Amino acid sequence: MSSVVNDTRIPNNVDLSSDKKLQRALEEWQPNFIKWWGAMGPEGFQQDEVFLRTAISVDHEGWANFDYVRMPEYRWGIFLADPVADRTIGFGDEMGKPVWQQVPGEHRNTLRRLIVTQGDTEPASVEQQRLLGQTCPSLYDLRNLFQVNVEEGRHLWAMVYLLHSHFGRDGREEAEALLERRSGDPDKPRILGTFNEPCPEWLSFFMFTYFTDRDGKYQLLALAESAFDPLSRTTRFMLTEEAHHMFVGETGILRVVQRSAELAKLDPNGDVRKQGGVDLPTIQKYLNYWYSSSVDLFGGEVSSNAASFFASGLKGRAKEAGHEDHVALNGTYRMVTPEGGALVERDVALRSAMNEVLRDEYVADCQRGVDKWNRAIAEGGVDFELKIPSRRFNRNVGLYAGMRFNPAGELITEEAWQAQSGQWLPTEADRAYVLSLMTKPVYEPGKMAHWIAPPKQGIKGRPVDFEYVRHDAR
Ligand SMILES: [Fe+2]
Ligand SMILES: [Fe+2]
Repeated sequence: MSSVVNDTRIPNNVDLSSDKKLQRALEEWQPNFIKWWGAMGPEGFQQDEVFLRTAISVDHEGWANFDYVRMPEYRWGIFLADPVADRTIGFGDEMGKPVWQQVPGEHRNTLRRLIVTQGDTEPASVEQQRLLGQTCPSLYDLRNLFQVNVEEGRHLWAMVYLLHSHFGRDGREEAEALLERRSGDPDKPRILGTFNEPCPEWLSFFMFTYFTDRDGKYQLLALAESAFDPLSRTTRFMLTEEAHHMFVGETGILRVVQRSAELAKLDPNGDVRKQGGVDLPTIQKYLNYWYSSSVDLFGGEVSSNAASFFASGLKGRAKEAGHEDHVALNGTYRMVTPEGGALVERDVALRSAMNEVLRDEYVADCQRGVDKWNRAIAEGGVDFELKIPSRRFNRNVGLYAGMRFNPAGELITEEAWQAQSGQWLPTEADRAYVLSLMTKPVYEPGKMAHWIAPPKQGIKGRPVDFEYVRHDAR
């Protein structure tokens, strides 16, 4: 078991005090992080006491310590999963050789880029969710939002630790830049598209945590296979925290769907909007939007970058051990590609298709929650089925970018798209409607906003009407 130091300025299990130079560099970065948190973290709740879990070690008892905490006093720490003894590289050209504890010179720039790209998403999501507390549907949900936020902050710490400890001056500059970019800022945007999209209400927040945090899960799973062992150990621990984020999304949408079905039954015409709820066709449009945006995050279907990441051992597949051929030099992957206005199937060298292989696992994983939502709709007695659109729908990255596809994945004309996209993606009117439901916060313990059902249970054995955020402490 790795030993943990909690009494220093930066809690850690990496023996930070043995490297004074590194410790000093991180202690210099810390006030800038706190400043960023103050400016870009949850607005209006910094003095509240929030029932949060804090990781104080990576073992079973230590990683989820629950107590009331003021967010600026949250103990953001550096925690790496315990090392695997004699770990060897699990895939690619270097398969079977010992993993790296230091960054090989020839991979330095590529690895730094991978770490910065992952790191950039973490503060971005905090920025996107910054105002949501002011319209929370309950104290339970408010607490979950803040839990996600502080942990994304810790994930930023995890990546900054790697940059500081392994990439010298370049790494320190990148760590500063991670606090300087801003989600949605046209002059200094965050690196990836989805992380610049506005997330102005709770339906988007739940979709984001279900679909976009799940992209994060698969990127982390692929990085957890990395030959660069500190990256592997860091991402393995991040995955334990990530699970809660996706739980928030899955159960959040489930509760909106349940309430929608209840309200449909209350109305003589089944008109959910008339009853002040989110109707299922609107939920479908939000699903289409956030899913297609998140699917883009996996990158191009055919990618020489993905091939070289795999060849060199930097980034593997999710749960690489479950695959048979870890070298993947001779395999092919069958893919639907647009050619001359039609879709044809083509075999692509497997290494070049690694983004698509990862996307496959993501798509399958997304379906599981949708099945649960559909069961809730059926139990609610409503005849409607939510569907994940084709991965070709509404793409801005890769093979299908610049072309138009309907949700079934059929190639359509620009005119057909213009005529129908308002049935597939949220329109201005849809967005205005959803926003209009979510203008007032609910701060009374146990009370829920009208448009959402209560959760089945509370957090860590506490009842649903527990005071998860002491908001009147102001
Ligand atoms: Fe994260
Ligand atoms: Fe997350």
